[in-house]
Amino acid sequence: SEVVTRVKNLHSISIGRWEIETWYYSPLPPEYCNLRTLYICEFTLKFFRTKDGLLRHLARNTRWHPPGQEIYRKENLAVFEVDGARNRFYCQNICYISKLFLDHKTLYYDVDPFLFYVLCEIDSFGYHFVGYFSKEKASEENYNVACILTLPPYQRKGYGKFLIALSYELSRREGIRGSPEKPLSDLGLLGYRSYWSQVLIDLLMQAKTPLSIEDIANLTMMKTEDIIGTLRALDLVHYHEGQHIIDLRRVQHMRLGNRGMPFDPQYLRWTPPT
Ligand code: COA
Ligand code: NA
Repeated sequence: SEVVTRVKNLHSISIGRWEIETWYYSPLPPEYCNLRTLYICEFTLKFFRTKDGLLRHLARNTRWHPPGQEIYRKENLAVFEVDGARNRFYCQNICYISKLFLDHKTLYYDVDPFLFYVLCEIDSFGYHFVGYFSKEKASEENYNVACILTLPPYQRKGYGKFLIALSYELSRREGIRGSPEKPLSDLGLLGYRSYWSQVLIDLLMQAKTPLSIEDIANLTMMKTEDIIGTLRALDLVHYHEGQHIIDLRRVQHMRLGNRGMPFDPQYLRWTPPT
């Protein structure tokens, strides 16, 4: 796995109702390289060289949602769990697409060891692909997210935080504290910092008794280093005689960012695989 930085090989992708300009190079299969626009079916994630090709596919298509299991549904938002080993083609195409918006991340061609959590917005036409994260089925480092993406037209609306909240709820049900795979991209770090800050500030504002870092880790399923790093960035913690002391008075004056799309764990039908 090496860092590959090459010239963008595609100007844009057309997916659902969007035409999206790409950000970075992606090692697409050769027949889909060096096009101006790659046409993508948002339900099957099949690639087409032409709009006509996509339209012919849509005329025959009968599945208007991702493959896999619907594990979350509330109002017009749904999440599917897709097994990389069972839906290899779909998951490989997710990786090709997400590389178009990631400059450094290693692209895993071998999707078998991963699960993919795909977020969709639902309307009368079907389930529209909004974003996803991938997760190793078994991570030695307890990473709970490998790669995360919100398609650009949906960014800055809270979907990233929704996906991150889902990833921590999966960790809660597994009983394992988690953290995203490193290194994070610049946007990935901003998204996580925002999520972590909201969770910690909410928790500390409601705290009736002093909380240790360990207490906070148990309540949030966050790793202690992410808790300390976030509290430091918020200037809410100092180190005194071998202990981290949280300044609760300062918490009361903190302002939270945009709440976005709340993830509601009540609507998640998921138990860890046994
Ligand atoms: N500039 C500044 N801050 C940004 C930002 C931007 N362009 N995009 C996100 N943020 C920060 C904000 O603090 C935001 O919270 P706020 O709106 O309350 O201020 C927070 O991140 C979360 O935003 P949210 O709307 O929940 O996230 P998103 O849906 O935009 O998704 C990513 C975040 C990281 C998934 C998205 O930017 C993305 O797909 N990037 C490309 C792929 C990538 O880098 N993935 C991470 C790999 S490690
Ligand atoms: Na990046």
